[in-house]
Amino acid sequence: MSGVRTMPVAVIIGMMGAGKTRVGKEVAHIMDLPFADADVEIEHEVGMGIPEFFERRGEQAFRKVEADLIADMLEDFDGIFSLGGGAPMTPSTQRALADYIARGGRVVYLDADPAEAMERANRGGGRPMLNGDADARWKKLYKERDPVFRKVANVRVHTRGQTPQMAARKVMDMI
Ligand code: S3P
Repeated sequence: MSGVRTMPVAVIIGMMGAGKTRVGKEVAHIMDLPFADADVEIEHEVGMGIPEFFERRGEQAFRKVEADLIADMLEDFDGIFSLGGGAPMTPSTQRALADYIARGGRVVYLDADPAEAMERANRGGGRPMLNGDADARWKKLYKERDPVFRKVANVRVHTRGQTPQMAARKVMDMI
């Protein structure tokens, strides 16, 4: 980016385990921008961890909190913002992302190698959407979400075999 930066910078989307938080933090660090992670913000807001929130209130309640928080953040957050994997599936978030792009923002689909992302997601734990047969669930979600991610993003970055630092450089080159 060049010249005077208007407010929006970049939102990172992609599957669970794609490295959105890791890469987003790295991009923010290199570009000297603030970083925020939607899941962390949600946990602050609801006062509990995401797995506990899913258990107590269910996915629908989570999606509502998530969509409201993202809409608010997109209005006034000036930095790099990583979303939870399922966030772009919510129609109001899709509209908020389109508006963000219209205001000059970049929505970056971090397109990781499926096998690598799935392995990382399973290893990471704490992901209620993968309860049960984690691999089968991850694959099903990938099939549903990949076309949506492609549609809502205006930048797509492949990260197969890359370190978070290498992926961050690629993202930076494109935002
Ligand atoms: C979810 C992904 C998680 C978190 C929640 C639901 C999803 O974020 O928002 O567990 O539906 O894919 P990460 O993509 O950061 O794991």
